[in-house]
Amino acid sequence: MGQNTKMNNIAGPPVEGDDFFGREQAVSALRDLLEHHDVLLLGPRRIGKTSAARRILAGIRTEGWRAIEVNVAACKDERGLIDKLRTALVAELTPVAGKVGAVVDKARAAIGLTAIESVTYSAGETGTVEVTLRDGSEGDWTRATGDVAGLIGQSQTPLLIYMDELPILLFNIITTDPHNGVQRVRRFLDWFRNDLRNLPGGGKARWLITGSVGLDTLVQQHGMADAVNSLKHQTLEPFTAPEAVALLNKLAASYAVSLTEEESQAIVAALRWPQPYYLQLFFNELRAMTQGPSASRLGEHIEQVLEQMITSSADNDFHHWEERLTIQLCPADAQHALALLGRTAHDPQGVRVETLLAEQHERLPHADADEARRTFIRLRDVLIRDAYWLADESSGVKRYRFRLEPLRRWWARRNTL
Ligand SMILES: Nc1ncnc2c1ncn2[C@@H]1O[C@H](COP(=O)(O)OP(=O)(O)OP(=O)(O)O)[C@@H](O)[C@H]1O
Ligand SMILES: [Mg+2]
Repeated sequence: MGQNTKMNNIAGPPVEGDDFFGREQAVSALRDLLEHHDVLLLGPRRIGKTSAARRILAGIRTEGWRAIEVNVAACKDERGLIDKLRTALVAELTPVAGKVGAVVDKARAAIGLTAIESVTYSAGETGTVEVTLRDGSEGDWTRATGDVAGLIGQSQTPLLIYMDELPILLFNIITTDPHNGVQRVRRFLDWFRNDLRNLPGGGKARWLITGSVGLDTLVQQHGMADAVNSLKHQTLEPFTAPEAVALLNKLAASYAVSLTEEESQAIVAALRWPQPYYLQLFFNELRAMTQGPSASRLGEHIEQVLEQMITSSADNDFHHWEERLTIQLCPADAQHALALLGRTAHDPQGVRVETLLAEQHERLPHADADEARRTFIRLRDVLIRDAYWLADESSGVKRYRFRLEPLRRWWARRNTL
């Protein structure tokens, strides 16, 4: 990216090309890892995972690799994922797709027919016919996996398969199928590790898996850490403060907005978390509010923009932060986490750990101190890892506080009448 290229102010969708700022080191380190490893890249919501992954894909393609991207967040179940993966593979490996496609279609037709478990007719008053389908999501997906393995094995060139939001699908399986969900996830992960990633004699295929809810929490909770241990676990960090300032300066230059170094620093300090999406969102609101703020009034603008960020409904994604807690935590834990967040939302400096622990204990009247403590620690770890909270010892005592100032304000406001 040249110094003088313009950068679009994009806040929401993944960014590519000249709109992708910085992260050179992270991208090249991940690329290097992919030479010999499969990678699990986790990072909080909106930190830039998809953008970084696409950057890696674009780069690796120029080295002669083939690469596909499969977003599985919207997949209903294992079968949905397999179908999507297969479609992407067929499209990428076009020269061989014709032949394989025919085989695959035959297999699909067969699967369709055998999916009917039984047909019963009850001759009661209404005379109903009942067709019982075999649980397609649970049983049948394994039959379609041979196609996928076959396609991967056929690739003559190294192949990178990027799977976005896998943890969301796995959590969905667990929540929507309380009886068998955990077992299904284990089976899926085992298949993934044993059958797909270790194809005998197959071409070189590497996997890049990203997600914004912790696959690590999931596998720990259900004792399946072994299923993902062989992936290289990586996290995507926020920007450093200087990188964040440089991003703002570049946006300002692209839009002919006058912004001094100090003003950019003040914005970064006000957000408290130098994370690309919220910098972009801030700049977007700032630009909408004023055509080139005068230096003397920027302080005022910062305050207004922070307020605007939490009230504008346009691309306000704070509710996702709330939603993601209920995706990855059991209902009781999700309620505790919401209570902890609500408790710390009113003070930018946060709340002392002793106070939070005592309140957690009150919420668990039948638990002893140890159990309350364990619950608190478990939730605290999630809240810190997913960047809701920061442990702040700058006042001399440990306090947990919101990491992102606009999110704190939104949280504090949402239960206010
Ligand atoms: N390298 C970058 N340069 C500039 N902006 C970025 C960069 N990475 C992320 N962003 C900003 O963050 C937004 C979201 O990026 P992206 O979709 O890649 O994040 P994500 O972590 O995949 O998000 P999600 O958790 O929603 O999947 C972009 O629209 C852009 O505003
Ligand atoms: Mg993403």
